[in-house]
Amino acid sequence: MDRARVILSKADRVVFFTGAGISAESGIPTFRDPNGLWSKYPPERFGNLLGLIGVATRQPQVFASFLYDFIYPLTSSTPNVAHFAISGLQKARQITVVTQNVDGLHQRAGTTPVIELHGSMFERANPITRRIKPIEMLEMQTLVSRLALLRMNASGGMKVVSSLSPIITLDWTGLWLPNVVLFGQRLPSHAWKLAEEAILACDCFIVVGTSMTVFPAAILVELARRASVEIIHIDVNPGRSRNGLAGTACSILPELCLGL
Ligand code: OAD
Repeated sequence: MDRARVILSKADRVVFFTGAGISAESGIPTFRDPNGLWSKYPPERFGNLLGLIGVATRQPQVFASFLYDFIYPLTSSTPNVAHFAISGLQKARQITVVTQNVDGLHQRAGTTPVIELHGSMFERANPITRRIKPIEMLEMQTLVSRLALLRMNASGGMKVVSSLSPIITLDWTGLWLPNVVLFGQRLPSHAWKLAEEAILACDCFIVVGTSMTVFPAAILVELARRASVEIIHIDVNPGRSRNGLAGTACSILPELCLGL
């Protein structure tokens, strides 16, 4: 911790690279921990578009359960002290957050800019025109209450899919889907370019709560390493990382940022 605090105290521009672990203490399950989303819903079926279409068609109730389990925590959680430690540091440092999360919690904690590599569940996108529209929290909460019923009762696939407004809609403006990146899909190129620029210009790169197993996002850690940027790694299990701080994001980040 002392060494990490010295590194951070000398840095002017700091990039935080965050994953599901930073939101775990807000009540949002991670993906690959023992109780993570992928342990109940394997990514081979639930993490890509073709797999999801198959589940929606053949097992609509399971599809509704998956969406409920994924979206409900996003609508019931609030930013935690780790998100606020980062936004608080903006007073003293130039901060950029590059996140793989789609939960919007960094923005709700007041951080800007936040580069969302995997998109946001609080937006929908038209895949043809690429237009993006925001989704309000209230609309999401209403969807969650519909999903709570759909997952309990056997309904046809069409009934489930047609009940998924605002995340899936088909009307005179076209088809709208959640603005999130699934496996097999490209990352938003503008976000990627901004992330690379921020990393090459920073002097401290702080990785928080990610297994760094999903590519291309994980390449950014290698980019920072090759640019000889100082890297700090916060995770309950940081492995053998140099400058690794073992602990939860909420226990480590406030202490790391205190007084800076
Ligand atoms: P993972 O579930 O793969 O990794 C979560 C990481 O957070 C692990 O390293 C945990 O040890 C750590 N962790 C858990 N609780 C923590 C806590 N309270 N404090 C600090 N660390 C904690 O999640 P990601 O790395 O974010 O992509 O996953 C990356 C991508 O895989 C996601 O964006 C998603 C998923 O498939 C897509 O859906 C495209």
